[in-house]
Amino acid sequence: MAHLFNRNVLLGVSGGIAAYKSAEVVRQLQELGADVRVIMTRGAREFITPLTLQALSGKPVHTELLDEDAEQGMGHIELARWADLLLLAPATADLMARLAAGRADDLLTTVALATPAPILLAPAMNQQMWRDPATITNAETLVQRGIKLVGPAEGQQACGDVGPGRMEQPEVICAAAAGLFQSGKLAGKRVVITAGPTREALDPVRYISNHSSGKMGYALAEAAVAAGARTTLVSGPVNLDVPEHVHCLKVESASDMLDACLPLLPDCDIFIACAAVADYRPAEVQPDKIKKGAEEINLRLVRNPDIVSAVAASEYRPFTVGFAAETRDLLTYARDKMRRKGLDMIVANDVSRQGIGFNSEDNEVTILSHHAEQALPRASKTTLAGQIIDAVASAAVRDTDAGLS
Ligand code: PMT
Repeated sequence: MAHLFNRNVLLGVSGGIAAYKSAEVVRQLQELGADVRVIMTRGAREFITPLTLQALSGKPVHTELLDEDAEQGMGHIELARWADLLLLAPATADLMARLAAGRADDLLTTVALATPAPILLAPAMNQQMWRDPATITNAETLVQRGIKLVGPAEGQQACGDVGPGRMEQPEVICAAAAGLFQSGKLAGKRVVITAGPTREALDPVRYISNHSSGKMGYALAEAAVAAGARTTLVSGPVNLDVPEHVHCLKVESASDMLDACLPLLPDCDIFIACAAVADYRPAEVQPDKIKKGAEEINLRLVRNPDIVSAVAASEYRPFTVGFAAETRDLLTYARDKMRRKGLDMIVANDVSRQGIGFNSEDNEVTILSHHAEQALPRASKTTLAGQIIDAVASAAVRDTDAGLS
């Protein structure tokens, strides 16, 4: 299903009777995952109050271009930059005329000029106004400039006329908005990726961990977004910025990672376990810092839960991909892990070699499935992530088509 997960949608409401439907548009945009802010023209405020849209969006509604307070909060240029999409619903004949003329005589038209985001417009007006040559020319001008139109629909109008000019239904408008972002092999799919190391506490200041930097997992998340997926990262502690449009859950230990992953499964089509999860943790976590004194300390370790195995065994089982970090007999051990953990695919990397694997910019991997093997030569983790996501998408779609997952 199309979605707007982690997208910022700026909804511009202008003054027509269909403005009352903008409340439903806000609600449905949020249901699709969007963060919504609203701009209202003076005319819109005659039909529906800012308070209604503020309550629904959970954000102050923007109304004035020259408002000192609003400019100190989020000014018109920041609003224009914040938006991933400017949705104009309803767009009256007057708003379309002002946009076509390139005017900036209120907040909404100013933001429309200032935003680099795509613009989607849902016309709403009397059928005769929609058929008027001036409106037809304005609509053509806007379309030529790259603005997309959704509707208008035909039918009974509030004024009693029958014909084209009704604003499209909120679900049609929101689906069109989401459709603008859906392209690529994973369009509409939900992907969860684990990344980075885990930390297993010994005492309040010490832990057991490994050298994973998170680079491979974060690059995969970026590639999944580029392929159109709604992407969640479950990340151990790393020093990386979360890629744009990725929802990130930060965790520390293997148990935390498992607890974060399991609730995501009912909403997950593909799970990729790239994290370097500690296989063992200290049997006891000391409540106070362990004091230096004894010549020798024995550390008792207990097994951690195996996250990717739990995912593959879950009742919601997504298409499940693991990684294998090996120092010898790479493909033999990787194949064995794929079988033991119940995976659909495994990405094998040799972590004993300099310049690839843990905490490096590059990697070199072999992707194994139950029926294929694909060696990918050394390249940056960004390049490899694109290739891995491409292979995962092809295999996952093939399995879904065959009714296997
Ligand atoms: O983070 P970078 O610095 O970019 O480095 C990338 C990487 C080397 C960490 C990455 O490419 C990689 O190999 N990740 C898997 C590391 C690992 O723990 O491999 P493993 O062979 O021990 O585990 C096999 C699979 O089981 C992995 O998918 C792992 O996430 C998963 N696992 C392991 C143990 C556990 N308790 N739970 C798990 O889910």
